Amino acid sequence: MQSGRRRFVKTVGAAVGALPVAGAGIATATSRDAGRVGIAPLAFDSPDPRRHQAAPAGLIQGRAEGIEAFAFDAYGTLFDVFSVTALCDELFPGNGDALAQRWRAKQLQYSLLRSLMGRHRDFWLLTGDALVNAAAGLGLDLTPARRDRLMEAYLTLAAFPDVRPGLEALRDRGVKLAILSNGEPRMLEAAAQSAGIDTLLDTIISVEEVKIFKVSPRVYNLGPERLGVDRSALGFVSSNAWDVAGAASAGLTTFWIQRSAGEPPEELGFEAHHVVSAITDLAPLVGA
Ligand code: LAC
Repeated sequence: MQSGRRRFVKTVGAAVGALPVAGAGIATATSRDAGRVGIAPLAFDSPDPRRHQAAPAGLIQGRAEGIEAFAFDAYGTLFDVFSVTALCDELFPGNGDALAQRWRAKQLQYSLLRSLMGRHRDFWLLTGDALVNAAAGLGLDLTPARRDRLMEAYLTLAAFPDVRPGLEALRDRGVKLAILSNGEPRMLEAAAQSAGIDTLLDTIISVEEVKIFKVSPRVYNLGPERLGVDRSALGFVSSNAWDVAGAASAGLTTFWIQRSAGEPPEELGFEAHHVVSAITDLAPLVGA
């Protein structure tokens, strides 16, 4: 699974890299260039973009003081999206890994594309669309029965082994716990129940409240609003580096669960305030 995730990181990078980015790579002529032929070389030496991050409130020597609540990303952080690989391989022998990787990459790509297009569609339907495209891209015959089985598997994704003990330890410290996810509410509730963590959570916050996906700041703003805490007192936890960057940009205090050592941070101008390797590492950071 670890190696699958490492491969996936590259896949998503490629998928996201294929998205249109307004203004990227376009050289703008200044008045001084008027009348000159040719384009000035593009500079790559802008000030270190990662220095835009705001200092987290109360960060003292690796400890995270002042955190009153944690909001967790769901897919890839609490729930292992690649736990569907075995079923993918049972239905399409020899193609399970490729299908699972492509499915997740398309799911994320569609969430970003739809947000840019202003055409929201809930994450359950979008995940189904991504599956159809992923299967077609691999030349696989996705019958309605196979599609249903794979989608149902998404409701019972395995939780990573550190999730339940990590959440229990945090609850013992008295911090509020929530999911803050792209997921559609019923699919999140089903996955949380199936993983046996629903009773550990104070609430589940879905992007359906604002009808746009991460990394819109409107999504991350839901965390402090719904949990009734200051934004810097909300620890946002994700193993998706792009999600960490989005939350840090929105002013939350971020915790990157880097389960795969060596995964690079995103070059998006914001880095995680804390990097840990498991959810069980969080309680000691906030505990008395
Ligand atoms: C989530 C996915 C995108 O928001 O990881 O749960």
